[in-house]
Formats: sequence, C-alpha cells, structure tokens
Amino acid sequence: MEIIGIMGAMPDEVEQLCALLDGVSIEPYAGVEYHRGMLGDKQVVVCCAGMGKANAAATTQVLITKFGAQRIIFSGIAGNMTAKIGIGDVVVGKTVIYHDAQDDMIAQSAPFTAEYPGDEEMVKAAMAACEEVGVKAIAGKIATGDQFVGDSATKNAIAAKVNPDCVEMEGAAVAQIAAKNNVPCVVLRAMSDNADEAGHEVLVVKKFSISEYVTTATRIVARMLETLD
Ligand code: ADE
Repeated sequence: MEIIGIMGAMPDEVEQLCALLDGVSIEPYAGVEYHRGMLGDKQVVVCCAGMGKANAAATTQVLITKFGAQRIIFSGIAGNMTAKIGIGDVVVGKTVIYHDAQDDMIAQSAPFTAEYPGDEEMVKAAMAACEEVGVKAIAGKIATGDQFVGDSATKNAIAAKVNPDCVEMEGAAVAQIAAKNNVPCVVLRAMSDNADEAGHEVLVVKKFSISEYVTTATRIVARMLETLD
C-alpha cells in the first residue's frame, strides 16, 4: 500500500492530524517523532519537522528514505501576501520558491531548478478538498525563507523580489528535496496573518493559538486523502 508523508513545522500543525490516526505507532528519529498509522484507508506517516528550511529538508529526506513516503503533503500556516484572499483562507502551492536564496547556484544541482511546481494531481485534489470543506482557496505561489516576516519593509522587499501569494518558512525546502527524490508533493497553507507588524505581535510576541487555522488545514488534508487514488 502507498505510504503518504504528512508534515507540519509546529506541533500544533500536526497534532490534530495525529489525533485522527488509527493504529498509531510512534518512532523517534533524529529529533523528530514519526507517527505511523491509517487515516481513512490511507497509510500515512505524520510528523512535526520543526521550523525553517534545514528542519524541513532533513525531515523530508527521512520520510522518503526511512519511512518510504511515496507522496508528501506539507500542511501549515503562512503570512498572507495577496489581496485575492484573507486570513483563514488557503494557498495551495502551484509553485513554491525561496525568497532568501541565490537561485542560480541552488539550481546547479538536482533537481536543477529553484522553483518547484506542486504535483498537478495533488494540487487539484487539495483545491477540490478546499471547495468541499467550504474554504476559500487559490492555487498560487508560496515563498519560503528562514525568517518570520513581521514588518512591512521586509514584506514589501519580498513582494518586489518574488511576488508571492504567501510567505512561510519550509515549503520550498520540502518541495526541493521531494523533487530531488522524484516524490510528488504539495504544500498547503492557511493564512494566519498578513506578514506585517500585527502578525508579529500576535504570533511571535503574544504566541497566540493557531488552532483555528490548523483546523482548516487539517480538514482539507483529511478530505484530500479520501480523494487521492
Ligand atoms: N508562518 C505564518 N505566518 C508567517 C509569516 N508572517 N512569516 C513566515 N512564516 C509564517
């Protein structure tokens, strides 16, 4: 049976998914707990990678090499960068890029690009799942970098450089390593803030709960899994 890897960056991003698993066994490896189990009729491995690109890349490779993941879904929150959607809405990664990398040098090794398209079938399944659970979503561009974007100057600089629909800290690293291994993947993100000073105050300074946005993302992933072949 196919094994699907499901990742988040923060404990909150995966704990609701872990709670849905049947027949769970937990295996710690290199600082990450891998939760193996069934989600509906699909065999999955769910884990919290930790934040940032290095954590995301390492965990993606472990999911593939050690746990046999044949497809990968990254589910989490992001800072909104577009007027097309608002807080609580979702961006499905049609394409995922870095906003803080030297792209031409990154692209000198496999998969020989620094812009990673989401797997077409998985993007379609994610968009259909959003519609079915009643969440507004766009298939768009997700930008990744090793920082929380929480001020207007940084936000504007990123917009000028790569013009993304949202900004987060892991997606491109997951997509790069998945592509390097020929493993289809998709990144989906629920908008938790507007990547500005207010978002910084709420999420970083006050550390407010993100469970509302995570619930949205969890429902989408669960529905999406039901529809994947
Ligand atoms: N994840 C959620 N909001 C974010 C932001 N503003 N910047 C980076 N990652 C985020």
